[in-house]
Amino acid sequence: MSQLADFQNEIYLNGLADVLPGLPADLTRLEGLAQAKLSDTSFGYLAGSAGSEATARANRDAFDRWRIVPRMLRDVAERDLSVTVLGTPMPAPVLLAPIGVQSILHPDGELATARAAAATGLTMILSTAASCAMEDVAAANDAAADDAEGGGAEAGGGGARWYQLYWPKDRDLAVSFLERAKAAGYTALVVTVDTFTLAWRPRDLDRAYLPFLRGIGVANYFSDPVFQRAVGGPVTGENRQAALLHWVGQFGNPSLTWDDLAFLREHWDGPIALKGIQHPDDARRAVDTGTDGVIVSNHGGRQVDGAVASLDALPAVADAVGGQISVLFDSGVRTGADVAKALALGAEAVLLGRPYAFGLALDGEAGVRHVVRCVLAELELTLALSGHRTVSELSLDLLVRA
Ligand SMILES: Cc1cc2nc3c(=O)[nH]c(=O)nc-3n(C[C@H](O)[C@H](O)[C@H](O)COP(=O)(O)O)c2cc1C
Repeated sequence: MSQLADFQNEIYLNGLADVLPGLPADLTRLEGLAQAKLSDTSFGYLAGSAGSEATARANRDAFDRWRIVPRMLRDVAERDLSVTVLGTPMPAPVLLAPIGVQSILHPDGELATARAAAATGLTMILSTAASCAMEDVAAANDAAADDAEGGGAEAGGGGARWYQLYWPKDRDLAVSFLERAKAAGYTALVVTVDTFTLAWRPRDLDRAYLPFLRGIGVANYFSDPVFQRAVGGPVTGENRQAALLHWVGQFGNPSLTWDDLAFLREHWDGPIALKGIQHPDDARRAVDTGTDGVIVSNHGGRQVDGAVASLDALPAVADAVGGQISVLFDSGVRTGADVAKALALGAEAVLLGRPYAFGLALDGEAGVRHVVRCVLAELELTLALSGHRTVSELSLDLLVRA
């Protein structure tokens, strides 16, 4: 029996003692609040997208063009939203998307996200571009899972976490990342294929702001033995400039092709998902190359301005490969109702992106927890109030074009 919606009762009961939630329950309000709190550079990096930001707007518009048609009198007293995705049990089909450089949002950065994920039982996907080393994030994730009474500890026997790879040019460095991730308990590999080079991002360009060049978001590189060998040893004041330049040379990898994926398969024995797929032919290619999943995503509109809304790309990809491999989705998800729409359109699970990062900016670990609990509670209520007990009952029947 799902208890995700109990958050609603908790809030009302706290109200009897005059305790109000610290953050709004309408998560679409978080962006404005985060803007008021963050520096211009940090907020610009978080909220900004590519070019004129048309794709970021399209991501939202696509959700608004689908409307839910609730069904009545179907006994939804017993609800269970739990699923298993790529071998990972989850209390609901929601994961935390890989978001890099989280220390520009809150001093605890990814450690706070890892704790909040474990406390709520969700799987976090850690970015290669994190501001904390993957081993430290894993330790924070496990410690919080041990502390949690239910959720994370029960769901995964420790924190549930996946690792997102930005495939560096040096193959030895790539292998080192994979070996470290495996050793630190990351169970699935997410390979982001849409960001082999950074796109044209005006908000960052106008402020000439790229956190990596300031040494933020490079922790996984600087802590890596292969990277360190290449820059003459551990990164100190002396070789820091050389290390940053080496990062510049390593980050982008525009010559990658489908054939290269075999190399990753050789060095990673767990599930692999490709993130950034939009075309059904690319999804079919993913199946052919033995990939276990695709994540339909346009990186929150941060890569190709003018690109198709991710939600509009989802049904064709799900039609092409759903059932053969896992189809996950992100870009534009802001509420529990949005999650329900993406599930109905064929996603097996959904990645939550900017909303939890706004929560992190506003209140660290507690802020992320608040956002996650709101999304999960609203998701369960949306399913129940529209006549569904489980995620597998959802289908296109739920929706109508506005
Ligand atoms: C500030 C920021 C940093 C991100 N960093 C990464 C990253 O390091 N790796 C990655 O695969 N995706 C990254 N993403 C993309 C997210 O994983 C996800 O695809 C995106 O946030 C979804 O769009 P939405 O947040 O608008 O829903 C980042 C997104 C944002 C907003």
